[in-house]
Amino acid sequence: MSTTSPRIGGFADRIDARSKVTGQARYAADVVLPGLAHAALVGSTIASGRVLGVDTARAEQAGGVLLVLTHLNRGPLGDLPNGDGDGLTADPRPPLADDRVHYRGQIVAMVVAESPEEAAHAASLVDVRYEPAPFVVDIDDADATRLADAPRRGDCAAALRAAPVTLDVVYSTPIQHPCPLEPHAAVAHWVDHDLVVHDTTQWVRGDQAVLARAFGLPRERVRVHAPFVGGSFGAKVFTAAHVLLAAVAARRLQRPVKAVLRSSEVLTAVGPRAATRQRIQLAAERDGRLLALRHHTRSHCATDRGVADLDPFYEPTSGVTRMLYACPHYEAVHDVVPLHLAKPGWMRAPGEATGLWALEGALDELACALHLDPLALRLRNHSSRDAHTGKPHASEHLRECYEQGAERFGWARRDLRPRSMRDGDAWLGWGMATATYPGNRDPASVSVRLDRERGRIHATVSTAGADLGTGMYTMLAVVVADALDLPLEWITVELGDTRLPPCPVTGGSNLTASTAPAARAACVQLRRRLLAFRRAPDESADWHELLSRAGLDQVEAVGTTDAVHDDARAHHSFGAVFVEVRVAPELGRIRVTRVVGVYDVGQVVDATTTRSQLIGGIVFGIGQALLEQLVHDPMHGLPVHADLAGYLLPTHADVPEIDVDWLEDVPDLAFNTIGCRGVGEIGITGVAPAIASAVHHAIGVRLRDLPLTPDRLL
Ligand code: MOS
Repeated sequence: MSTTSPRIGGFADRIDARSKVTGQARYAADVVLPGLAHAALVGSTIASGRVLGVDTARAEQAGGVLLVLTHLNRGPLGDLPNGDGDGLTADPRPPLADDRVHYRGQIVAMVVAESPEEAAHAASLVDVRYEPAPFVVDIDDADATRLADAPRRGDCAAALRAAPVTLDVVYSTPIQHPCPLEPHAAVAHWVDHDLVVHDTTQWVRGDQAVLARAFGLPRERVRVHAPFVGGSFGAKVFTAAHVLLAAVAARRLQRPVKAVLRSSEVLTAVGPRAATRQRIQLAAERDGRLLALRHHTRSHCATDRGVADLDPFYEPTSGVTRMLYACPHYEAVHDVVPLHLAKPGWMRAPGEATGLWALEGALDELACALHLDPLALRLRNHSSRDAHTGKPHASEHLRECYEQGAERFGWARRDLRPRSMRDGDAWLGWGMATATYPGNRDPASVSVRLDRERGRIHATVSTAGADLGTGMYTMLAVVVADALDLPLEWITVELGDTRLPPCPVTGGSNLTASTAPAARAACVQLRRRLLAFRRAPDESADWHELLSRAGLDQVEAVGTTDAVHDDARAHHSFGAVFVEVRVAPELGRIRVTRVVGVYDVGQVVDATTTRSQLIGGIVFGIGQALLEQLVHDPMHGLPVHADLAGYLLPTHADVPEIDVDWLEDVPDLAFNTIGCRGVGEIGITGVAPAIASAVHHAIGVRLRDLPLTPDRLL
């Protein structure tokens, strides 16, 4: 056992690794309780229309069946919150609310039985009669509504008319799906009229708020557990229908009920990343300096709230285009297109991953048109402030990312001309793009408790936030180890439980910046309290000894972080991504053979998990660029490949060695006391446009529609 304490910024071993590889870590679907019953869902087989009737007789008579829920017998559920801050529901309406169907796969019944097999069999016997109505699942086939929010500065139209150089291009992204490895799953049970739910969720308190509202309970009578979450990527922010229905059934049956989605259900009933069509108009000087940028996005939304009452969430593509580059004239407009699909939601850098695909692609085209190095064009338009608000970045080192990334990659050897490098049958191309993601931080509380145990000290760190597999356990342990000089082995971290100190949704790469400073603040309080018991100011701090002098077996402190209110400065992370591809045009094959990413993410808390997050993000980017798309059949409204065999994700064979690094000694201390910004999402940003830039460099073909599948090259 190592007894040295890790330091902030160093490489620590993941403290949850052993529990995961040995199967000790308990995920929601692993929960088994006495009397557990199992649910199976029945999804609508029409994409729009009404349920005329449901014949449940055969299902109810099937072996082991305990309950069949439909909209006719579901019973009352309270109105659900659907705004930020207080929980979010996956569908705008409660499940089984009425006879209306808004997308194919919408849950129209749920069967509960003694075993999962009996439930699945009985679900197949539920006979639903429908009255189908016309539907649209293609973003190019429906009318759009313009959102009122249209950020602008200067006079874009005039600048576009007068500029010496202009570019007008449309980039598109398909519907994509978060596809966490662990499917959505929940176990609900009632204990003395209190609701206890084990859910795989990014937000135990969001679930708690939704369930409390649904069942008319005070929040404290709903307890939600999510100690381990097997990936989520945005898909587990919302409280989904099966969670609410499991709780309904559990109350009705007075037994615990488990509902686990099949991957086909995850791909139909859980919201995807919206499709986008993005028109970018650029105006520039001949030296590449941007004069105007107009960004017109179409993205899709759900149909079932009506356009006047649109979902609060739409793919926020313009968040990044407005702030990244110095450009005096800017305008963004956003049209939303209601489609008969599950309500879109967050997925891996929502807005940045899609917005940068368009913006960075257009900049690459501008660089080519002006015979400029794409990197030189970025440098010419670099902004040390948020270009839209004008606030200076509190800590911004993007130029160093470009410089170090270019150096590691060997960018200086790049010939500007396409088709300038070959390797056997393949053309080689080098591309690059800028990465960026906002620094987000939300109010969080973390408690740290020290216990005297058998002659030594043990620390317990607790907060309600969930670790999505990203490394929260280790990250918080490192903060406490560093602050109190403790070895990791003496620290336990408790996460994902509504009874622990309040913590925001794990989303928007916010949790490290929210909880690490709170954990440190708790440690500072503990130090101060215990150091008062030293006999001399230079006496070394032995927490065990000091606790016993204080006459205590245990001492606890709670640290908090507040929301970001910085009127003076902006807080963003940045990076530069360089990519090499090998393209075989006669096969339409693109292989990514080298990636270098260098990032400015403030102070890194734990290097092991940061490195994994950045590499994982780049793998997302390779998926976004080359593979991922959910295609809906216009005849049936169903994804043509609603499983993980058909929805392609990068495998090891698709992923080359990825070289990531970050700048040292660049803490954003105006952001929080550690100076850290989150690293969960920045890795995906910039990767897809860098790949497309490299493909253009390889063969001179400009691809503007994702994913870059072989048919687009041939
Ligand atoms: Mo993330 S897509 O903000 O959960």
